[in-house]
Amino acid sequence: MHLGLDIGTSAVKGVVLDARGDAKAQAQAALAVSQPKPLWSEQNPDDWLAALFRVCRALRKQNPKAYQQIAAAGLSGQMHGAVCLGADGKPLRPAILWDDGRAHEECQQLARAIPDIEKTAGVAPMPGFTAPKILWLKNNEAATYKKIRRILLPKDYARLALTGEFATDCADAAGTLWLNQKTRRWSPKLCAASQTDIAWLPKVYEGAQQTGALTKAAARKTGLPQGLPFAAGGGDAACGAVGAGVVGDGDSFVSLGTSGQFFTARDSYHPPRGGMIHSFAHCIEGRWFLMAAMLNGARPLQWWSRVCNKPIAFLLSEAQRADEKHLPLFLPYLTGERTPHNDARIRGGFYGLENNTTRAQMTLSVIDAICFCFMDASRALSESGANPKRAAVVGGGARADFLLKRMSRAMRITLMRRESASTGPAVGAARLAMMMQGTPLKTAARKPKTENTFAPGKEDSQQQERYLKWRKLYQTLRPFAQS
Ligand code: XUL
Repeated sequence: MHLGLDIGTSAVKGVVLDARGDAKAQAQAALAVSQPKPLWSEQNPDDWLAALFRVCRALRKQNPKAYQQIAAAGLSGQMHGAVCLGADGKPLRPAILWDDGRAHEECQQLARAIPDIEKTAGVAPMPGFTAPKILWLKNNEAATYKKIRRILLPKDYARLALTGEFATDCADAAGTLWLNQKTRRWSPKLCAASQTDIAWLPKVYEGAQQTGALTKAAARKTGLPQGLPFAAGGGDAACGAVGAGVVGDGDSFVSLGTSGQFFTARDSYHPPRGGMIHSFAHCIEGRWFLMAAMLNGARPLQWWSRVCNKPIAFLLSEAQRADEKHLPLFLPYLTGERTPHNDARIRGGFYGLENNTTRAQMTLSVIDAICFCFMDASRALSESGANPKRAAVVGGGARADFLLKRMSRAMRITLMRRESASTGPAVGAARLAMMMQGTPLKTAARKPKTENTFAPGKEDSQQQERYLKWRKLYQTLRPFAQS
């Protein structure tokens, strides 16, 4: 048995896989995000640990026999977060998360310092990444900055608590803006530009390499054996890919979680060619990936369900009967956007509401906005040389058939919902633990069975026209949002 743990944003998730890769137990524990100021997004690192221990207890309760047979574990987690530790190894402040937009001026500072930064870093500077956050701390919280002795990514803080090791993997390191993507090593030049002492950073491993073993104290808290080996694992995008079997050149997937990704695996490093594409090291040795990363994957649907006080499933079924004439447009940028805009300040909004606009029509415009973001993602990926025609689809949003039908038609690609739709990154982490124990990549990262396929069908010219208007709406509102 192999354990995969994913330090997500909305929950810590865990899965126990048997030797065939089938899930024998699955559990999750919810997390809250705090937004103490506009553009800020933070979590308390110790909340991740409390949730992780809750997940372990739930897994053990669900299937005590399988839990007892766990032979190795792997970690996955939300990427880009900055966990700054002082000399005592404790967090100096709350972690600054991947969807935090405060460091936008520091990004300009980095771009000025290294004008062709994306060639090495694999991506243009954007506020969600780790390096600009450290510059921000230097510029705005100097007392905290002076005390920094270590910087970890979220899942690597969990690793420290579980194994006592300061370690990370290539794919999570890739999202910091400190990694040389080609060599898969920290870049002294990128570190210097962001006033980051390279000695503060953890050692970088390949995803299936071992990074220590469970300590006695953590064994007591998890009910797992002391000495249990931990694989380096990967950032959630890369682990989600391993979970979906997206490891071969050109294999692709769409992730519809809180955030959204359109991801294509590559077997060599291709620097991005604009469009705010991320070209990152994969958590599999000798592999890279191109990724369009959106801050608002299926999040707008969760938000709309909260606003309406109705379950998503109810809203979706109502939207299927909506009158498609005079649909409003919805900008889904609830926390700004990365691909393709790199715009921390843009916010969401409806446009085109009329006296007789219904909730069903508004839901449909929220659904279309998600589709349109992925059309933008396709355009951006194709500028960097990737044109996937088929993609697996994973994440909570992948449960919504109606959304997938509309997305496939809008994007003009076939979407395949995989069996492990809602547990992708944790499954990927467990698979990396299997590889660490000797299972070959081909077996460990096999493609899960397809549950349902959504083919694009006939192009909907009305939807395509609405997409073009929607793009103009963003361009029109952009200057307004910056003021
Ligand atoms: C990827 C990204 C998200 C976060 C949170 O670039 O920002 O996947 O890792 O899930």
